[in-house]
Amino acid sequence: MNDLAQFIRGLPKAELHLHIEGSLEPELMFELGRRNGVTLPFADVEAVRAAYAFSNLQDFLNIYYQGAGVLITQADFKDLALAYFRRVAADGCRHAELFFDPQTHTDRGVAFATVMEGLLAGMAEAERDLGVTSSLILCFLRHLDEAAAFATLKAAEPWLDRIRGVGLDSSEVGHPPLKFARVFRAARAKGLKLVAHAGEEGPPEYVWEALDILDVDRIDHGNRALEDPALVKRLVHDGKTLTVCPLSNLKLCVVADLKDHPLRTMLALGLKATINSDDPAYFGGYLGQNWLETAEALSLTRAELVTLAKNSFTGSFLPPDAVNRHLATIDAYVAANP
Ligand code: ADE
Ligand code: ZN
Repeated sequence: MNDLAQFIRGLPKAELHLHIEGSLEPELMFELGRRNGVTLPFADVEAVRAAYAFSNLQDFLNIYYQGAGVLITQADFKDLALAYFRRVAADGCRHAELFFDPQTHTDRGVAFATVMEGLLAGMAEAERDLGVTSSLILCFLRHLDEAAAFATLKAAEPWLDRIRGVGLDSSEVGHPPLKFARVFRAARAKGLKLVAHAGEEGPPEYVWEALDILDVDRIDHGNRALEDPALVKRLVHDGKTLTVCPLSNLKLCVVADLKDHPLRTMLALGLKATINSDDPAYFGGYLGQNWLETAEALSLTRAELVTLAKNSFTGSFLPPDAVNRHLATIDAYVAANP
C-alpha cells in the first residue's frame, strides 16, 4: 500500500451517501437468490458483473431494482448491512448514514418491519463488533407519486425514533423536488432530517427546488449546481453539505473521466463537499476506493483530504458532541502522521 492509500485508510471518515441496496454484491445476490428460491436472469456472478455497464442513471436503476428482488427476509437485510459495514470498517469509516428504499420492498410484499428489523440488527452488530455507528434515511422513490410517499411515511410511523431522516432518490429527470413538497413538509413536522438527490442528472433548478421548496439539510450529488453561479453562492452561504459520489458519477457518465470530476473545484469554490460511494457494489468501489481514486485523479492535497474528512462529520446528522469527538480524532491522526 502506498503512502497516499495508507494515509486515506487511517483517516477517520463518515459516509453520508450510501444506498444499502446498492451494496448488494453479486455473490450475496446469488446466495440470497438460492436461499429464497428467486431465479436471477444471469448465469453466474461474472455475467452479473458484465451487465454493469451503464450509460445513465436509468440503465443502472433497472438492474438495481431487479437485484433487490432477492432481499426477502429479516436475515437478508441484516446480512446485507453487515457485509457493507465489514467493507467500510476496513476503509476507516467510523459512521455511516444509510439510505434505504422501503417501496422497493413493500411493493413486492416484503413487510416494512422485515426491512427495518433486519437493517437495525445489522447496524447494532456493526456498532458493537466493528465500532462503526450508523443511522437510517428513508428514501422516497421519486418515479412514484406523492401519495405513495405519504403511505410510506405512514408505514414508518412506528419506527420514527429509529429513522433519522427522509430522502428522495430514483429517476431524477421529470420528477422534480416540487412533486414531494407536502410529504417533505410532513416529514419535517415529525422531526426528521431532510435530504434529496438533486443535480445528479437533473438541472440546477432541481437543486433550487430542493433548497427553497423542500428545505433540505443536505444535497445528494449536486454536481450540476456548478452550472449556476448564483446557486453556488447560495450553497456556500448556507454551508450546505453536498454528498458527492465520484465513482458513481464516472459509472453513470455524469463525468467522462475522473480527472474531469468537479470535486476539487467544489472545494475551491467553498462548497462543503464530501466523498461517498452511492452504490458501491455496482460502481466499482467502496468508500476507501472512492477516496483513493479521486485523490489520485485530482491530485488532492493532504489539506484537502483533511477538509473532506472533517466535512463528512460536520455534514453528518450526529449530535454535536459526537461530531466534535470525531473531529478531534482527525486532528490527532494528522498530528501523528505529519
Ligand atoms: N438509487 C440508488 N442510487 C441512486 C442514485 N445514484 N441516484 C438516484 N437514485 C438512486
Ligand atoms: Zn444516490
